[in-house]
Amino acid sequence: MARKYIFDAMKKIALFLCLIVNVFTLAKAQSVIDPLTIKDKMQWFADAKLGIFIHAGIYSVNGIDESWSFHNKKISYPDYMKQLKGFTLKKYDPEQWADLIKQSGARYAVITTKHHDGVTMYDSKVDQLNILKTTPAKQDMIAPFFKALKKRDIKCGAYFSLLDWSHPNYTGFLKDSSRYKLENDYERWNKFRSFFQSQIKEINQLFSPDLWWFDGDWEHTAEQWESAKVRDLILSGNKNAIINGRLQGYGDYETPEQNFPVSRPNYKWWELCMTINDNWGYQQTDTNWKTPYEIITIFTDAIANGGNLLLDIGPREDGTIPDEEINVLKELGDWNERNGEAVFGTLAGIPAGHFYGPTTLSKDSTTLFLFIQGDLNGNITLKGLKNNIKDITVLGNNTKLSHKVVGKISWSVVPGLVYINLPNGVQDKYVTVLKLNLDDPIKLYNGHGGFN
Ligand code: GLC
Repeated sequence: MARKYIFDAMKKIALFLCLIVNVFTLAKAQSVIDPLTIKDKMQWFADAKLGIFIHAGIYSVNGIDESWSFHNKKISYPDYMKQLKGFTLKKYDPEQWADLIKQSGARYAVITTKHHDGVTMYDSKVDQLNILKTTPAKQDMIAPFFKALKKRDIKCGAYFSLLDWSHPNYTGFLKDSSRYKLENDYERWNKFRSFFQSQIKEINQLFSPDLWWFDGDWEHTAEQWESAKVRDLILSGNKNAIINGRLQGYGDYETPEQNFPVSRPNYKWWELCMTINDNWGYQQTDTNWKTPYEIITIFTDAIANGGNLLLDIGPREDGTIPDEEINVLKELGDWNERNGEAVFGTLAGIPAGHFYGPTTLSKDSTTLFLFIQGDLNGNITLKGLKNNIKDITVLGNNTKLSHKVVGKISWSVVPGLVYINLPNGVQDKYVTVLKLNLDDPIKLYNGHGGFN
């Protein structure tokens, strides 16, 4: 007995010590990452749910992999660079792009200011390799686009590749040949570092992006990039700027890419970035388009799990956007128009097990939205809901639905099963949303169906 007592006491002390250590490490991490305002500054992002990603670059001339094609030696570097001569933007209409993005329902857009190939899409004063100086386009893509976005109240994001395989002072080049090893030539690395940081300053001054979308951090460590300094640089220009998680630990949110989380990620903020076909940039041979239905089901799955979707389009070298992408954005926009109440400004839904599909909640948690995929009709079931349901509506057409509570035992705390009658003919073309008004903020039972 005494031994058990001592053992328990020791366990408690150990737990307490762990807690203290944890609090300190967290506090340390937070002091680097986190001004106290982080929650406020992330609010628009958490509410936004949908962003449009744009991979615009010279790779659209041949329609080959952005930057990777020369790095992986699918094409020689000089041949890759010949594409500069074919990049015209002759039909570029940033107002029309911004209209389309607005129409999709997206609240933010992120465009490549510089990909791994080092070609800047804006008027960089510190770099010759920019589309104004080296392509027939002779114009800045970013400035008019951000202007058009701002006019429509869409937040502006700048994609920026830290690594720059074209720059003579950058370490890496082709997959099996690098220019030099950083530890053998710090001076050269310092030159590169001040170069890329001056581009960041430039972009900050020119555009003051609402969001920075870094990429390519994997080739160096936080110390080598000076991630802390880069973060400060950005925040000193715009303290509300949001920084994605690809800055070796110094970003604000996580960015899973192309792959869909199966269980709910435990990140506070995250965003799934995904292509509509299989490539980021324009490739005429890639016709593997996802359908609007597929995109909408992926989108609802992301938001139900607390994330955003950053959906990519790849314009052609002349600045036009492929019809298939326009179609997806429009269909998504129409769906958002009908169902946006369940999307924008909502919270992640209820945990798995209560309903076999994605769900979201209103901010006060008194409204539960159920997303129903496909042509389902008949009985939709919901388990473990302790609340009374005031009413149920189909979004988009306001049809009221009836429901029945089955198997509620008066003396038990276990709620009954809810069966919702969804008749034929009221379904959405893609994903039907049921809006359940509850009597109070949602309360759930998640036990094993016993006496408690
Ligand atoms: C990857 C690729 C890059 C692409 C990016 C978008 O990191 O390197 O080509 O731009 O994903 O998320």
